[in-house]
Amino acid sequence: MTPMLEVADLRHTYGSGPTAHTAVQNLTFEVATGELACIVGPSGCGKSTLLRCIAGLIKPSEGTVSLHGDKIDRTPEDLAVVFQDYSRSLFPWLSVRGNVEFPLRSRGVSRAERRKRSAEALEWVGLSGADGKYPWQLSGGMQQRVSIARALACQPSLLLMDEPFASVDAQTRFELEDLLLRVRHEHSSTVLLVTHDIDESVYLGDRVLVLSKSPASIVADLPVDLPAQRDQITTRESKNFVALRGEVARLLHNQPAVAHEPITRPTPAQESAAAQRFLEAEREQARRRSDASTG
Ligand SMILES: Nc1ncnc2c1ncn2[C@@H]1O[C@H](COP(=O)(O)OP(=O)(O)OP(=O)(O)O)[C@@H](O)[C@H]1O
Ligand SMILES: [Mg+2]
Repeated sequence: MTPMLEVADLRHTYGSGPTAHTAVQNLTFEVATGELACIVGPSGCGKSTLLRCIAGLIKPSEGTVSLHGDKIDRTPEDLAVVFQDYSRSLFPWLSVRGNVEFPLRSRGVSRAERRKRSAEALEWVGLSGADGKYPWQLSGGMQQRVSIARALACQPSLLLMDEPFASVDAQTRFELEDLLLRVRHEHSSTVLLVTHDIDESVYLGDRVLVLSKSPASIVADLPVDLPAQRDQITTRESKNFVALRGEVARLLHNQPAVAHEPITRPTPAQESAAAQRFLEAEREQARRRSDASTG
């Protein structure tokens, strides 16, 4: 069976020449239909870059991304993304319903179908009564629910989530994690979720992909051996959960330091030229100060 998502030998380098920065390299993995795969990795290692390449928002420098076996070269219609920063991803001038329906409108979905889908999606996230409100009238957690509803209303084959619960408080985070698990089971969704929270990756995932420091490559692909039904208290206390979170933490912390470019010492001629420039600048400043006091 063709996997839902295939990432093959992916590399992405920002810029070119001496300032070029390779954010991800040698990335190869697959996500099966109906799977929830979590990606964890150190800050700045290239997680968002990877999601941007998968979403077709940036073109990989090398390698391919395929959805249902078709190579992605622009954002596919049956893919939705939930970004980390809900405050910047919702339109303040549109109501909750308007925000949820926005991507459907650009996909040419009829008005009646839009109404039906937005009502359903808002019900899934527990916001049925808030459809006429504006984002700024909602709490942070509610705004993030709207972002999730907007993604679900598109009925995506693949849902990409970039640290979707990072900006909410701990209690709301647990609620949103359970919301995602519930919705995902009810709709057999395929989800790729990026997080830097080790516990969250194990709690939510069927699999945890651990990335290296920048440039990101995969250091481990761990199956999560936990029952499908999860619970914030008992699952997190279970032996398997504790063992797995320990393993992910060790993989993240035991990585060798990133190799930096060796620092090149200036030649004696360069050093004396730099000293000369510094002295000239000092003299110039002194001259200006004395001109100002005498003039
Ligand atoms: N548009 C860009 N131009 C140049 N470099 C970039 C650009 N976007 C990201 N980078 C660099 O690429 C690297 C990876 O960035 P990216 O945002 O993918 O990391 P991340 O793992 O998502 O980080 P975080 O954990 O902070 O969300 C970083 O060093 C970053 O500075
Ligand atoms: Mg990021």
